[in-house]
Amino acid sequence: MDNQYAIDVKKLNKSFDGRHVVRDVSMQVSYGEIFGFLGPNGSGKTTTIRMMCGLLTPDSGTGTCLGYDIINQSEEIKIHVGYMTQRFSMWEDLTIRENFNFVACMYNLDNRKERIDRALHMLGLEKNASQLVGNLSGGWKQRMALAACMLHEPKLLLLDEPTAGVDPQARRDFWEELYKLADRGISVLVSTHYMDEAERCHKLAYIFGGKLMAQGTPKEVVEREKIATFVIRDGNLMKFSEALKGLPGVDQTLHFGNTLHVSGVHAELLNNTLQELKQKWKFDMGPIDTSLEDVFVHLMEANSRQSE
Ligand SMILES: Nc1ncnc2c1ncn2[C@@H]1O[C@H](COP(=O)(O)OP(=O)(O)OP(=O)(O)O)[C@@H](O)[C@H]1O
Ligand SMILES: [Mg+2]
Repeated sequence: MDNQYAIDVKKLNKSFDGRHVVRDVSMQVSYGEIFGFLGPNGSGKTTTIRMMCGLLTPDSGTGTCLGYDIINQSEEIKIHVGYMTQRFSMWEDLTIRENFNFVACMYNLDNRKERIDRALHMLGLEKNASQLVGNLSGGWKQRMALAACMLHEPKLLLLDEPTAGVDPQARRDFWEELYKLADRGISVLVSTHYMDEAERCHKLAYIFGGKLMAQGTPKEVVEREKIATFVIRDGNLMKFSEALKGLPGVDQTLHFGNTLHVSGVHAELLNNTLQELKQKWKFDMGPIDTSLEDVFVHLMEANSRQSE
């Protein structure tokens, strides 16, 4: 492995039926890093992941995964990478152990029993080994799918929305497992729609309409956009949000529970507008750190304006 990155892809492109769904995507994931892959539905995450691990041939672009060429060495990649697909792909009418056995056979693994016991132990699944997978909760299913893609002891995990539809406690537990794996030097690329998970990543990338809009640590991604954000904490937030649209300095508004975030690239202009309205409408308002979600909305809107 002479490449310093676990994943290093450059200018990947893919079209389906004449629709360009991944556009010049370049991404670098370092060893031992948990790298988040964010973007709305249909933005090209799964397609990019499939190209990264050699399952799908890009129309153009190059890259390596664990130092192996993504175009010519997909067999080697398969041996060293664990891929958890977006749809649950275990057999519901088999037990956990039977499923693991099946995966171990598919990979032609040696020492099957030891491997399976280790995987069960690692994820605290020993007691559930003879349970039918169909009877497990969503959280346990995902835990099990993670254990299954660890059976061949990969150095890199590609996890496609592993926590979709799973409750918050199970998601937290799942992330604890990811940190343990990263601590053992395993690199993880994980796609997600959850902002709290995005904040937990060492680095992340945001894709929209097939184009990579940002890449870096969560802090870098936020700071690079240089947008100012204010929070309005009370009053008729729906009404404020409507009224603020198009006013000087206001680029976007975003509801966060019982508060409203108002952001813009011209901090002073935005501040002046809000101060004026504050006098009139008497709301409680102040500056706040721009969140990742504010930034993603900003990137999306900036891109939509560009394409108009
Ligand atoms: N095999 C395929 N044939 C035709 N179109 C496809 C195929 N795979 C994906 N697409 C299209 O490519 C676009 C990107 O899809 P992709 O599954 O990569 O998005 P995604 O970001 O993973 O979305 P989600 O968050 O919903 O999983 C979508 O418009 C999708 O319909
Ligand atoms: Mg997907």
